[in-house]
Amino acid sequence: MTSTVEIRHVPYDDISPWLRSMRTTLLVDPGAGSSEQALAWWREVWDPDRIFGGYAEGRCVATLRTFATTLTIPAGPAACAELPVDALTQVTVAATHRRQGLLTRMLTQSLADAKERGEVASFLKAAEWQIYGRFGYWPAVQGTNYRILNGRRPRVLPSRTPYQLVGADPEQLVEPAADVHQRVRLRQAGHIARTGADWRRRLGLDGLRPPGAREPVCVLARDADGRVDGYACWGANDGDWFHDPDQAQARVYEVLAATDDAYRALWGYLLSLDLVRVLTLDGYPVDEPLEWLLSDGRAVQRTWTGDNEWLRLLDVPAALSARRYAATDRLVLDVLDPDGGWAAGRFSLDGGPAHAECRPAPAATADLRLSQRALAGIYLGGHTVRSQQLAGLVEEETPGAAPRLEAMFWTARRPWNATPF
Ligand SMILES: CC(C)(COP(=O)(O)OP(=O)(O)OC[C@H]1O[C@@H](n2cnc3c(N)ncnc32)[C@H](O)[C@@H]1OP(=O)(O)O)[C@@H](O)C(=O)NCCC(=O)NCCS
Repeated sequence: MTSTVEIRHVPYDDISPWLRSMRTTLLVDPGAGSSEQALAWWREVWDPDRIFGGYAEGRCVATLRTFATTLTIPAGPAACAELPVDALTQVTVAATHRRQGLLTRMLTQSLADAKERGEVASFLKAAEWQIYGRFGYWPAVQGTNYRILNGRRPRVLPSRTPYQLVGADPEQLVEPAADVHQRVRLRQAGHIARTGADWRRRLGLDGLRPPGAREPVCVLARDADGRVDGYACWGANDGDWFHDPDQAQARVYEVLAATDDAYRALWGYLLSLDLVRVLTLDGYPVDEPLEWLLSDGRAVQRTWTGDNEWLRLLDVPAALSARRYAATDRLVLDVLDPDGGWAAGRFSLDGGPAHAECRPAPAATADLRLSQRALAGIYLGGHTVRSQQLAGLVEEETPGAAPRLEAMFWTARRPWNATPF
């Protein structure tokens, strides 16, 4: 069937039908978030060149938005570099118009624009596994949901240097928390940057708290010199804990620490909350080290682990030259990209812990033939070369080249992104 839907950029003046359409398909109240404050927030982030809408008979039936950000990537044992990327979000096609190629039309254009702007990769969080592989996106960062049995009252290793835990209103949290977040993200791959608008929405400031959502309880971890090295935000769940103590549960929205001792101090605080029997924490790193701090590591239960962010490389030489590698080596990679072709080519990668250079090498003999998807999967250290070999996405041309690539891309920490989008 030929679609008569017009795809076009969306000026801010047309925001309301766009928001209604996006919210309806994402199963959110279509009319929510239309307050003056919410619209002022949208005006601040609205960049028509990066926003697409699909229109049929004057009605908005499809939405897609991207924004420019930077992604942290491995650049040494405890250091990261930043890569300019295109972050994709609010992708929807109304149930009346799905499977008519609207997503394909919008996303193909959006990726072409990102490539044209010089963005090295595109990054997203997928609602479902099946949607984005055909456009070259591949799982790159995992997340884990935790349930922490506070009722067992596990002891937490005390911090070695004193930290004071001080309460803060959400407004007071923004500045010190932004500093902590920035320090954390520059030491772990997978994080995107946060803007002032992100913080205001996250903390529900300026009237941005969704209806029914609780104001977060916030604490700062301050060292003896008054420097803030960590913070936590949490909220109790609704429930009749007086008659049923098992309902005394709290959700940790965010806990971030820039030093090991601030981490210990914050968890000491969270696990000492009176009345609370269970704490939940969603979308945290797979290798979150909390259990190693506790007298009873089994108080930490992993309830879900899976793909969180997906990555799609658009410029292989730029992406691989910006990274640093655990082992020094030189490999020629034949990169296949049947999902759009943006990243295809033969490249020589010469890299190690302190240097990296990747450039086109069309005449060189390839050591490995691999899909762009596999490169996206291993790029941040989230998945192994071996797993991508099993998936049929990596083939050796030179025997032993796959373990050599594995040694280069190895990272001590798994990537994590603290900022859902
Ligand atoms: C996912 C969504 C945007 C797809 O839009 P669409 O316009 O129907 O997609 P297209 O018609 O361009 O589909 C392209 C291909 O992807 C497939 N596809 C798309 N969504 C899929 C899904 N959820 N599961 C399986 N396959 C899917 C289509 O079948 C089609 O394949 P084909 O060409 O072999 O038939 C739409 O279904 C939607 O809005 N879903 C609910 C909201 C959502 O999940 N958004 C994504 C947020 S990350």
